[in-house]
Amino acid sequence: MSNTSEFDAEGIVFVDPDEEVRRQTKAVFEGRVQLLESIADAEDSVIAGDADVVFIGPSLATAEGVAEAAALSELDPAVIVVLAAPVDVAGDVLRAAIRSGLNDVVEAPLTIAAVTEALSAAERTQRRRVEAPPPEPRKPMAEGRLITVMAAKGGSGKTVFASNVATLLARWGDPDRVVIADADLQFGDVALVLQVDPKHTVVNAAKEGEKLDAQFLETVLATTASGMRVLAAPLEPAFADEVPTVTYTRILGMLREMFDYVIVDTAPSLDERLLAILDKSDTVLFVVDMDLPSVKNAKLALETLRILNYPANKIKLVLNRSNSKARLDVDEIERSLRLPISASVPSDGLVPASINEGIPIVESHPKSKPAKAFEDVTRILLEARQQPQEGQKKRRFGR
Ligand SMILES: Nc1ncnc2c1ncn2[C@@H]1O[C@H](COP(=O)(O)OP(=O)(O)O)[C@@H](O)[C@H]1O
Ligand SMILES: [Mg+2]
Repeated sequence: MSNTSEFDAEGIVFVDPDEEVRRQTKAVFEGRVQLLESIADAEDSVIAGDADVVFIGPSLATAEGVAEAAALSELDPAVIVVLAAPVDVAGDVLRAAIRSGLNDVVEAPLTIAAVTEALSAAERTQRRRVEAPPPEPRKPMAEGRLITVMAAKGGSGKTVFASNVATLLARWGDPDRVVIADADLQFGDVALVLQVDPKHTVVNAAKEGEKLDAQFLETVLATTASGMRVLAAPLEPAFADEVPTVTYTRILGMLREMFDYVIVDTAPSLDERLLAILDKSDTVLFVVDMDLPSVKNAKLALETLRILNYPANKIKLVLNRSNSKARLDVDEIERSLRLPISASVPSDGLVPASINEGIPIVESHPKSKPAKAFEDVTRILLEARQQPQEGQKKRRFGR
């Protein structure tokens, strides 16, 4: 590039106390670069944000000049400072210029070609120097994922699954981005199992009615030792009536905007509330305890969902107490339920112990078999997230 018409002089400053040097430079750049008399003036220009690149003229190619120029680049590390030195500049001045961190030294008098070349080289190093450190701002996902844990029978292990999966999602990601919501509005025990003493519950959120916003909802949430949030169930069964289904699903919708993962623990009845929650869910973790009544109920519940045309691909069947002596085999269960089993968690005395302790087993005994199995379950949920959504709507139960 050798003519001034293509040259972008914006933000370029040339400093030289010698009037004749400034006059020549002005001629070369057709008056388009800013000409200043002293480095002090250049400092003002940098502070004002007017200068991106400062060329230090040949009259300042001295030890003092270089020291002042170096101070200038310290003032704002994003500013490029280049020394335009005469051909016969003293070697020690050159070395000082390089040591003091000036971006470049070019030959005076300046030409447009030299300036253009110096700029592209300086910009490359500058980008490495200035742009490398600032970390990328964390981009929250557009919408969080709603994972509902259900079972067709009480005591199947829903709360154990929900609390361990949530704990793992928090540990593998950002605890601040995970919330567990207790939708067992009468007998919910998520807060108990995670050992939080909730000051507020979902009832406080529901009472806000139409006024409820994310800011208020945030204040209702409790925080566990591991840093994730809990939307606790009402403190008494009677209070469940104060949380209508529309309100609850609206709250879940808000949580999904506030968090990357919303884990919903549920009550063991396939009622209108659960169906509304399932409608909103991305994935359903369906826990089947390994005993006959549990398998029978699971079959009935899955039939109901089939009749309602609920997408089968959202459902992940997981087996609990898979090593129990129920004399049921996995193939038989899969055939009966017409869905594959995605993962199995063995029965282990450490599980009830962890419940009593208030520390999920994935935290208290991360190397135990059940903890490893919960890792499998969580991995399956993460994989489900990555699956393409296209064409999935068409697939239905058992087809
Ligand atoms: N894999 C397991 N091994 C041993 N005990 C378990 C296991 N899963 C659940 N439990 C126990 O079963 C009981 C019911 O589990 P819970 O998660 O509360 O069921 P739900 O929420 O479905 O009613 C709890 O006391 C829990 O400790
Ligand atoms: Mg429960």
